[in-house]
This record gives sequence, structure tokens and C-alpha cells, in this order.
Amino acid sequence: MIDQFNRKIEYVRISVTDRCNLRCRYCMPEHGVFKLAHEDILTFEEILTVVKIFAALGIRKIRLTGGEPLLRRNIVELVRNIKSVDGIEKVAITTNGVLLDKMVDALIEAGLDSINLSLDTLNKKIFNQITRRPMFEAVVSSLHKIIAANCEVKINCVPIVGLNDADIIELVSLARDNDIKVRFIELMPIGCASIYKGIPMSAIRNSIEEVYGHLMPLSKDELQGPAEYFSLRGFVGRIGFIDAIDHKFCSHCNRVRLTSDGFLKLCLNSQIGLDVKSLLRSGVSENILMDEMRRAIYNKPQEHHFENNVDKTKMYQVGG
Ligand code: 5AD
Ligand code: SF4
Repeated sequence: MIDQFNRKIEYVRISVTDRCNLRCRYCMPEHGVFKLAHEDILTFEEILTVVKIFAALGIRKIRLTGGEPLLRRNIVELVRNIKSVDGIEKVAITTNGVLLDKMVDALIEAGLDSINLSLDTLNKKIFNQITRRPMFEAVVSSLHKIIAANCEVKINCVPIVGLNDADIIELVSLARDNDIKVRFIELMPIGCASIYKGIPMSAIRNSIEEVYGHLMPLSKDELQGPAEYFSLRGFVGRIGFIDAIDHKFCSHCNRVRLTSDGFLKLCLNSQIGLDVKSLLRSGVSENILMDEMRRAIYNKPQEHHFENNVDKTKMYQVGG
């Protein structure tokens, strides 16, 4: 559907759990992580009801996120059910890869089209430092598995000063021989991230070009989102950059979010939205819920204001 600023909204990110099996320093505190109560999280059936309404409103792509979405029970069946909703063309997942190795075949068989693997380094020591959990081998094994699998693969790395500066080039090399996308995402200064400094994308580009030569820009496709993609000489895969803050892409934003506790969040950095869970549980008809969701999405804010950090968003509650 089209919003008040003439943007075509066709992509929803659904956080299916706020739990995570890693504790990345820029995302979660080491101890005392606030956890939603089980009954506050949308049920499998509630998620499906909302997805059907999204599809009726013109949403074509769903991404499942967390926390860590593979911790959610019956996630494979959820993928299967969402993929079979009329109008949904693409189902994707963003995962840290800890549990992916053993689940990837079932997920693809259930209809999963695309996997985003969050991986900030290929150095075991640095991985353990960033994530505070010794899960490097599990994640690397998932990485090899998905590279060989029949689905789209994107690696997401958040470059941070003093953490993974030295690991960028090795991550880029993954795209040399494999048909995958390696993407660098600007650190957003929210929650635990506010004490870190993201490495500017311009610096990342420069260090890549020093080693691999000119980054050649590629044209965009419709559902691609905010990343800008480049190819490098001799590379099969692509390199992408997402710099939300330096290059605001709000005017082309095509997405909304559903938090694990059922809040329709219209912008990552804004409290504005709709309490879908309360509506669902108050027993309103699906038509009324659809009208409310249509009205909310229509009123999606014009742009984010990270510069003022107005929202107390926690990334693990909205799933990036
Ligand atoms: N800024 C940018 N990306 C972040 N992620 C988590 N916190 C932040 C942040 N503050 C990323 C993770 C993962 C995705 C779900 O969101 O690295 O790739
Ligand atoms: Fe978990 Fe992702 Fe947050 Fe790391 S960034 S703690 S993997 S939700």
C-alpha cells in the first residue's frame, strides 16, 4: 500500500522472539537482559493472522528476526505457513547462525528464500569478544552450509572502531569465490551501541578499494531495500553498504516492523505505531484490525531522527 508520503510499503520485518543466544556488546547487556513474558509474545496463530492482513494490504515480503528467530519454537512451520499466504512472495530470515547449521535444509524446504547471517568477524577471538559467547565454530559451520545451499545469502557486518576494524577485508573475501552478498551496516547509536563508534562507510569503502580495486556500482531492484551494491573485479559475489545515518534513505523506505510483543512499529527510531496485540486480543473483527493497520501504515513518519536519539529502542526487541 501507499503511505502519506507516497512510499510503497511492501516489506514487513517480524520479530518472533526477544531472546538471543549471543550477547553482542553493541546490542545486549551482559547481564540483566529484560525479557518479555511468554504471554506477551504473539502466538504462532496471531502472527499468521497479522501476516494475512499485511498481505491483503499489499505486503509482498516478510523477514523474520529476533533476538534470534531460530530460538522460536516451530519456526520452520511458521516459515511454511507464512510462505503459503496469498500475496507473500518472499520469506527471509535474519539469524546469528548459532542454530542454523542443523535447520537450514528444513527452512529451505519450508520455502525460505533468503538468509541474512549476522557475522562481524571471521576471527574466533574477536567473535568471542564481540558476542561474549564461544559459538564461533557453530556459526562458521552454518556459513559453509548456507553458501552451499540453494538460497540467497547475505552476510551482515557492523564495523565498529576498536572491535572488528582488522576483519573487514577477510569478510569481503567471502564474496570473491561465492555468489553471496557481504554487507556493511553503519552502527546505529541506540541502546547498548551508544558507547561504541561505528566505522564510517566511507572508510570501509576506502580500505576495500585499497586491497581489491574499484568498487563498481550496480543498479537497484525493487525489493532490495536500503543497501547499495557494488561488484569488484574477479568477484562472483557482491559488496553492499547500508548507511542509515550518513545517507538517510527514509524517502524510499518500504518497510514497517512488528515487534515480538505485537506492536506495529512504523519507523525503527520512533514509538509511533499500533498495538496490534491488544486489538487482536480484544476480539475485534479482522476487518476492523485491517482498517486500523491500514490507517497506521498510512501515517508512517516521514523520516528517522537518530541524531536526537528520541526512542529508547532495543535492537533485540525489534530485530534490526
Ligand atoms: N546498529 C546497526 N546494526 C545493529 N544490529 C544490532 N544492533 C545494531 C546497531 N546498533 C544488527 C546485528 C544484526 C542485525 C539483526 O542487526 O548485527 O546483523
Ligand atoms: Fe543477538 Fe543479534 Fe543482538 Fe547479537 S546483534 S545479541 S546476535 S540479537
